[in-house]
Formats: sequence, structure tokens, C-alpha cells
Amino acid sequence: AHEINNPVGFVSSNLQTLKTYSKEMLELIAAYQAAEALISDRDTLAAIRDLRQSFDIEFLQEDLPALIRESEEGLLRVRNIVQDLKEFSHVSESEWQAADLNAGLDSTLNVVWNEVKYKARVNKHYGEIPPVECLAAQLNQVFMNLIVNAVQALDENDGMGTITLTTGHQDEWAWVEVKDSGRGMSEDVKRRIFEPFFTTKPIGKGTGLGMSVSYSIVHKHHGRIEVDSAPGHGSRFRVWVPVKHRAADEME
Ligand SMILES: Nc1ncnc2c1ncn2[C@@H]1O[C@H](COP(=O)(O)OP(=O)(O)OP(=O)(O)O)[C@@H](O)[C@H]1O
Ligand SMILES: [Mg+2]
Repeated sequence: AHEINNPVGFVSSNLQTLKTYSKEMLELIAAYQAAEALISDRDTLAAIRDLRQSFDIEFLQEDLPALIRESEEGLLRVRNIVQDLKEFSHVSESEWQAADLNAGLDSTLNVVWNEVKYKARVNKHYGEIPPVECLAAQLNQVFMNLIVNAVQALDENDGMGTITLTTGHQDEWAWVEVKDSGRGMSEDVKRRIFEPFFTTKPIGKGTGLGMSVSYSIVHKHHGRIEVDSAPGHGSRFRVWVPVKHRAADEME
């Protein structure tokens, strides 16, 4: 992320300087403008007025600060996105750590929000979950696959769809559920979703790897994925993972 953070850093520090400079220049212009009446040479005065008119200085004086303000807002948004990406991909890809799955789900949702926001309303029902020993970045990958699949299952002709994210825990297990109001799956499709390269999406749209990768990540956690779906009734995927990682089994 620092490949992005560095340029964002100098752009925003330059922007601050630019803001100061332009404020000073606008002040100076205003002072000159006030002094215009003192110019006795007709030709000079006419030339200045022509220039002022062709540059539309009044507009520029208003628009320049607005442009800078908008640029600052844009930069702030880039900053926030980088922050979410950082959280989403977590410190180290392959490290087991105690993670807050609700927070992971939230930063994952932020990462794909642009794909979600025009197509679905998102309902959240987060339960209290103890920290889960997991490969947080990889579980986030699973959540992302499920959320993207959920969005892609919605029929745009039906208007806004609904995606419901629910979490909870039971005994030694935590679970995260992604439910959609989309087209659902036939028995045939449901049976094959975990097969690598199985996709019902048009060429160029899906590689058919999302669910098979998700399966192996969840398997690595000694967890499981429950699927509940029927054509026309949406789909519900629930990922179960043990709260405590069984390190003894890691040799496989
Ligand atoms: N929420 C869902 N609703 C309906 N069908 C689904 C849903 N999730 C998965 N599927 C079905 O399972 C198939 C496989 O899903 P998977 O995520 O593995 O691949 P993909 O989404 O087609 O492509 P990719 O994820 O690689 O972009 C999908 O093509 C789709 O037919
Ligand atoms: Mg997919």
C-alpha cells in the first residue's frame, strides 16, 4: 500500500502549499484591483480590463478555492480506500492470528462496495464473536467471493436486491453467513459449485474459481461451508470455522 501512500502523501502536501500560494495570489489580485482606479494611463487601464474580462477573474476567484477543496476531499477518499485495503489484506498473508471476523467482514464489504451499492441493500446482523484464530486475509477473500457472487446473482430487472450478512458463534465455532435475494441455484448447479472452473457466467465474466478457492481456504481452517438455495428463492452460504486453530493438524 505504500506504493499508493507515497504519491498520495506528496500530492496532499503539495496541495496544501498550492492552497496557501493561491490564497496569497488572490489577495494580491484583489489589492491590485482596488488600486486600478489610480491608474491614469488610459491604454494600460484598458489592457488590464480586457485581460480581466477574458480570464473571467470573478469566476476564477470563486472556483479556485472550490477546486482545491474538492481535490482535498478526493484525496481523503483515496486515503480511506487504502486503509480499507490494508485492513482487508491484513499484515501478513500467511500468518495465523486472532481476528475479529465482524471487522473483517466490514472491511471486505468496503472493498467491494462500488459493485454492491447500486444493486443491493445490505442488512447486517452481526453477533458477538470471540477472536477467531485464522488466516484473516484469506477468510476475507472467502467473504469477498461470497459477496460478489451474491451481487452477481441479483437480477437487475427486479430493482434493488437484498444481501444479508449475519454472524454468530456457537460453542467452539464461529460462523459468517451471506444471503442474497437473487436467482438461486438448481440442484445441478449446487452440486458443482466447488468444482474448479465451474461457472454459469458468460465468458470473461467468471473464471469459476471463487468457490473452489473459498472451499480450500475454509478447509485449511478445518471449517465447512453450508449451502442452502433453490431457483427463484435466493441463496444462503454459511461459513463455519473453529474459534481455536488446531495447530497439531497443520502438518498436512
Ligand atoms: N449466490 C449465488 N447465487 C446463485 N448462484 C451462485 C451463487 N454463488 C455461486 N453461484 C453459482 O456457482 C458458480 C460458481 O461460483 P464461483 O464463485 O466459483 O465462480 P464464478 O462466480 O462463476 O466465477 P469467479 O468467482 O471466478 O469470478 C457460479 O457461476 C454460479 O452459477
Ligand atoms: Mg464467484
